[in-house]
Amino acid sequence: MKLRNLIDIEDLSLEEWNELYGLASQIIAHPKEYVDALHGDVMASLFFEPSTRTNFSFQTAMLRLGGSVFGFADPSSSSTSKGETLKDTVKMVGSYADVIVMRSPKEGAAKAASLYAEVPVINAGDGGHMHPTQTLTDLTTIASLRGGIGHMNVGLCGDLKNGRTVHSLIKALAKFPGIRFYLIAPRDLAIPGYMVEFMKEHQMPFVEVTNLEATMPQLDVLYMTRIQRERFTDPLEYDRLKGVYVLTRTKLKLAKPDLLIMHPLPRVDEIAQSVDDDPRAVYFEQARYGMFARMALLMKMVEQGRRRPEPQEIGEKPLCRNKNCITQTELYLPNLTKTIGGKTCCAFCDKEI
Ligand code: CP
Repeated sequence: MKLRNLIDIEDLSLEEWNELYGLASQIIAHPKEYVDALHGDVMASLFFEPSTRTNFSFQTAMLRLGGSVFGFADPSSSSTSKGETLKDTVKMVGSYADVIVMRSPKEGAAKAASLYAEVPVINAGDGGHMHPTQTLTDLTTIASLRGGIGHMNVGLCGDLKNGRTVHSLIKALAKFPGIRFYLIAPRDLAIPGYMVEFMKEHQMPFVEVTNLEATMPQLDVLYMTRIQRERFTDPLEYDRLKGVYVLTRTKLKLAKPDLLIMHPLPRVDEIAQSVDDDPRAVYFEQARYGMFARMALLMKMVEQGRRRPEPQEIGEKPLCRNKNCITQTELYLPNLTKTIGGKTCCAFCDKEI
């Protein structure tokens, strides 16, 4: 596998996905054969934002492979709280660890870290931007439970504006045939423009709708998401939109018998508790698949070894106007851009410049 860091799921080729899924399937079938696979290797776990599944599944993945883990789940206990830059933090942590797993509220933070670390960096979620290892979890779940990925109608429902898991999943599914998206969201939480550009550029069929019930009969996969309270600047706006979609047993009467009901979790109230016992509800199983997918990823990333990072230019004033972009606070970052749908965008957060 050539991939050095996992920052954006787009970086992972179809061949690399097949390699990862093949390994994850072997681990699922024969977990005891991998108990020493990463013996002597160390994972740094840097969570600048709360997490249950991603943090614990990465930690248990490393422990189940015979490796060790250090890190913090509370950034106030690290020198970041004294003003240390992200660059200096990852340079230090990378000198102690063999792989860095990082979650941050800042969009583009994992990419920024990858520019300075001597070891591979895995993005465990960067603000409302991307969450590629959740997508490995989702793909592993779909492939395992449907026997493959492709030729299916996928409903993505909830906060599609701030839902990083949704953005990563759309990007990943661009590599598979016959996927049609139903983007189910209130207008104020519609999918961001850069994702619309991405889908158009990749000729991915999609419709934007607001009604979950009307869409239900078409779906093979329903991917529910919560309204992301922590991304709202106005609490009244959150109060207005929370509870906009609630999946109930009554609504499920409209669904196909082999629908997969998925959710990256945590759930707030968007799936009624009574749905949990429906055999189509696979979200807890999905979280367990995530641990196996992360075991496979850690094995492939640690294989990459240590490498001196390329020198980076010191940036001038940030080009990007997204106030949640990492370039707004880490002012030394280089001014990097990329093109999405013919538009010049920030290479850290993907927003149009
Ligand atoms: N799905 C997910 O990212 O959950 P956590 O925030 O608990 O890690």
